Amino acid sequence: MRTDDINLVSFTSEHVDGALALSRQAKWPHRAEDWHMGQRLSRGIAAVDEAGSVVGTILMTPYGEDCATINMVIVDEAMRGRGLGRKLMDEAMALAGGRPLRLIATTDGLPLYRKLGFVAEGEIFQHQGHLGDLVPLGEVEAAAAGDFPAIKALDRAAFGADRGTLLDVLSAVAQVAVVRRNGRVESYGALRAFGRGDLIGPVVASSAADAKSLISALALRKSSSFLRVDTNEASGLTGWLAQIGLDHVGGGIAMRRQTGEAMVSQDARIFALANQAFG
Ligand SMILES: CC(C)(COP(=O)(O)OP(=O)(O)OC[C@H]1O[C@@H](n2cnc3c(N)ncnc32)[C@H](O)[C@@H]1OP(=O)(O)O)[C@@H](O)C(=O)NCCC(=O)NCCS
Repeated sequence: MRTDDINLVSFTSEHVDGALALSRQAKWPHRAEDWHMGQRLSRGIAAVDEAGSVVGTILMTPYGEDCATINMVIVDEAMRGRGLGRKLMDEAMALAGGRPLRLIATTDGLPLYRKLGFVAEGEIFQHQGHLGDLVPLGEVEAAAAGDFPAIKALDRAAFGADRGTLLDVLSAVAQVAVVRRNGRVESYGALRAFGRGDLIGPVVASSAADAKSLISALALRKSSSFLRVDTNEASGLTGWLAQIGLDHVGGGIAMRRQTGEAMVSQDARIFALANQAFG
């Protein structure tokens, strides 16, 4: 099949079944529900062959006009190395308009992203497994509906872009917890079903101690489940995550294209990603 015979069309919920087959082929753990969530929050492209099969995918998840993430970049194994990945990236970058771009690269994707001007800014560590011995650390409360404006403000300061739409979706599907001091939300974390089990993230916290309190409180709610946490180099959490039973199994390279984004807060930092697609 030549890439000229491939149609690039807007990604809709009708493409989820085909997309799921591609992510399974790439050994990614996404469920149909994870693709649907990505599709609802994003605009994207499906590459469809003459028989109507999905042979490539890409999503662009905008955070207002502040920035966008490029994610779910997959080309069918049988179609790789013929320029389809590059075409999908060109389309997604056009969809993003002038927004600065972020992504988490796999080893497969790195050469393509480098050629397109993305620059590495740090490593992402994927931890997962079944919880070992863990005791609650620190005071953590379930978030109340009235906490969401503060949670969104905290997230925006740490992420450097407005992820309000993502947080609206998470408020419906995730268990959200906060650390509150003097009546003020200082740190938050979320747990939701994802992939093979449950995922903890985002975690935005004013200290590593708060991040550990949130992760342990959320993890203990699902102590029998398969848990995943994607963290960054700066968090300093990798050793502790391995100690509590969540092994380091891989990760990726965080990359950005186009600088000039808002400065991020030094008070609250990202300790766990929403996932590798959403940053
Ligand atoms: C990453 C992926 C989407 C690339 O798709 P593809 O259709 O094979 O990509 P292309 O054929 O368009 O190649 C892209 C560019 O990277 C270059 N490239 C690819 N592999 C390379 C390598 N090992 N070293 C140097 N350059 C390489 C190609 O030459 C091409 O450059 P060009 O556009 O200047 O010619 C595909 O490998 C894939 O689906 N991998 C599994 C899922 C995955 O990891 N996705 C990335 C998620 S971040």
